[in-house]
Amino acid sequence: MKTYLVSGGAGFIGSNFVRSIIKKSDIKVINIDNLTYAGSISTIKDLLKYSNHKFIKTDIGNIKKIKYILKKYKPDFVINFAAETHVDRSIDNPEIFIKTNILSFFNFINLIKEFFFKLNKRKKNNFRFIQVSTDEVYGSIKKGKALENSEISTSSPYSASKSSSEQIALSYYKTYKLPVIIPRSSNNYGQFQFPEKLIPLSIINALNEKKINIYGNGLQIRNWIHVDDNNDAIINLINKGKVGQIYNIGNNVETTNINIVKNICKILDEIIPRNNKQSYSKLINFVTDRPGHDKRYANSIKKIIRETKWRPKINLKNGLKMTVLWYLENKHWWKEIQKKKYKGERLGRVEFK
Ligand SMILES: NC(=O)c1ccc[n+]([C@@H]2O[C@H](COP(=O)([O-])OP(=O)(O)OC[C@H]3O[C@@H](n4cnc5c(N)ncnc54)[C@H](O)[C@@H]3O)[C@@H](O)[C@H]2O)c1
Repeated sequence: MKTYLVSGGAGFIGSNFVRSIIKKSDIKVINIDNLTYAGSISTIKDLLKYSNHKFIKTDIGNIKKIKYILKKYKPDFVINFAAETHVDRSIDNPEIFIKTNILSFFNFINLIKEFFFKLNKRKKNNFRFIQVSTDEVYGSIKKGKALENSEISTSSPYSASKSSSEQIALSYYKTYKLPVIIPRSSNNYGQFQFPEKLIPLSIINALNEKKINIYGNGLQIRNWIHVDDNNDAIINLINKGKVGQIYNIGNNVETTNINIVKNICKILDEIIPRNNKQSYSKLINFVTDRPGHDKRYANSIKKIIRETKWRPKINLKNGLKMTVLWYLENKHWWKEIQKKKYKGERLGRVEFK
């Protein structure tokens, strides 16, 4: 029996990570999350029925509670998804990003280190701490693809805070031999993504017959990976990744934001045509760009393929269709969010431009 301590497991990627492993009978998941605006019980409702899944509401920075959880559940693996994650919100309110992604994270990893020190040799050898990070730490890539040892050049308070937590984690590997692995994922999409992010927000605005806002000229290039592929890569890294290493995760396909949105409109045109017979693409509306908006993210995934044999399986066309269908079939999930948490208003102060 292996115990996974998953933090941030009531958010988008974390909940899907738990979903992808929970059916195995020889594992146990302790899911901790302090349920910020981005995490909710409705996101993990389907997981609560599993007897090998336990949800505990706590902040990763809560020293007393985390100490208690580590002592009681003795995890074999810790996978940290907990973070403030929306770049636009980091422009409006950077403090919470520094607090969560750096200070609370520091408390957390420090307790994990204390816990790790007390393990016996065999447990120590198998223990892994996965600090989930982002390819946004490379900043905008002009030419070629970012390798794991490429220069760090953060553009937003979000990416700066994520890069800081990576550095803390790597220092804990070098100084204390804590077996840290850092996945740097590209843009994820899929079921249960909070509707402030480009893909769910565009789907929902289209369904609500609202304008679909595109920042700037929409030519920003991203490398979208389906969340199930991303989580499959993380599982591969837990099992086969080398400690103290960084691994890019992505899907090799570069797409502009405007292209993503046009594809969403095309899918919707096919499955749920508008009453006025026009394409949903008529709702596309170009707005002022995000301050500091990176033009292109592109990360090379050669290292993870070489070392773990992982490969992305879901192509963007199918993944987008699956995602659109999911938002169509799960209106109750996002309607509750729209009612109580976020109505779709523009975030990320634009007056600096
Ligand atoms: N979504 C992406 O495209 C993407 C890409 C690369 C990396 N990442 C990283 O993956 C991780 C998960 O991202 P996501 O998209 O699922 O984000 P999310 O915002 O959907 O989920 C984050 C979760 O963390 C929880 N949380 C926040 N602060 C906490 C705290 N102090 N203590 C405990 N829980 C806390 C929230 O309640 C939420 O459930 C993050 O670390 C993010 O930086 C995301």
